[in-house]
Amino acid sequence: MYQKDLFKDKVVLVTGGRSGIGYGIAEQMLKLGARLFICSRKAEPLEQAAEQLQQIGPCAWQACDIREATQVEDLAKAIASTYGQLDILVNNAGGQFPALAENISTNGWNAVINNNLNGTFFVSRQMAKQFFMPQKHGNIVNITANVMRGFPGMAHSAAARAGVENLTKTLACEWARFNIRVNAIAPGTIQSSGLDTYPPPIKQVLEGVKEENLMKRLGTVADIANAVCFLSSPLSAYISGITLQVDGMEHLHSNRMANFDLLRMLGGE
Ligand SMILES: NC(=O)c1ccc[n+]([C@@H]2O[C@H](COP(=O)([O-])OP(=O)(O)OC[C@H]3O[C@@H](n4cnc5c(N)ncnc54)[C@H](OP(=O)(O)O)[C@@H]3O)[C@@H](O)[C@H]2O)c1
Repeated sequence: MYQKDLFKDKVVLVTGGRSGIGYGIAEQMLKLGARLFICSRKAEPLEQAAEQLQQIGPCAWQACDIREATQVEDLAKAIASTYGQLDILVNNAGGQFPALAENISTNGWNAVINNNLNGTFFVSRQMAKQFFMPQKHGNIVNITANVMRGFPGMAHSAAARAGVENLTKTLACEWARFNIRVNAIAPGTIQSSGLDTYPPPIKQVLEGVKEENLMKRLGTVADIANAVCFLSSPLSAYISGITLQVDGMEHLHSNRMANFDLLRMLGGE
């Protein structure tokens, strides 16, 4: 659907690019002419993913935990020595676990905030300072979640994602002077490897989500990848600081209490 050379001469970093949505974004951008760099924590599956992606185009990789600022610095050095530039950053890495708010431990809370909020900031700050600011152009797309009406059963992730959506606005304003655009995408429920990590009862709730959706389907990885390509390309040149809902209207029409009710039931309430 996009012009084949849309990302010709562009270097793209996709965090969490070894699986699911991140892999799909990397694949789509490679098909549109970009050179890719992917990172995530586990080296072995990351290398395997990079090898698969290399069938389409150039794809380098390095293991990096986005919560560790020093590892993020090393990642930027690796990108500089591999490609000598970075044009687009997709902050996709993240994760969470379902829990009632009162049952989230301090460690559990900190882990999710670190991953989904702090990690996004560390990577954005590093790549902006090392690449985007000196070269006077750059593009950041943050992947968040459907948190507009809260996210009962995922208080930690909802707070972190809302933080990222606000960070998106602030960074967009502060960094406009460097010709850096910053936007976010809030996916609805996307049929991807991320959903495999949830226990069977939650997967049953997801079937209900599909039925309830006004388009009668879950989102696909391609739905998100296509939106990322739009926000990363000159097609959206006058758009910065927004969060684009890519969710088949889930933010307008969905039972936000379904997960929460299930967690209460499982807890014997
Ligand atoms: N699927 C959905 O319905 C949905 C909806 C809304 C939002 N999202 C969000 O969209 C993003 C992608 O989701 P997905 O469904 O594709 O899930 P996924 O397959 O679990 O992808 C998450 C990726 O992030 C990496 N990652 C996690 N923590 C990291 C860290 N600290 N440092 C570096 N890499 C890290 C993981 O690799 P390692 O484990 O090897 O680090 C993995 O490659 C996530 O942020 C997710 O929360 C998903």
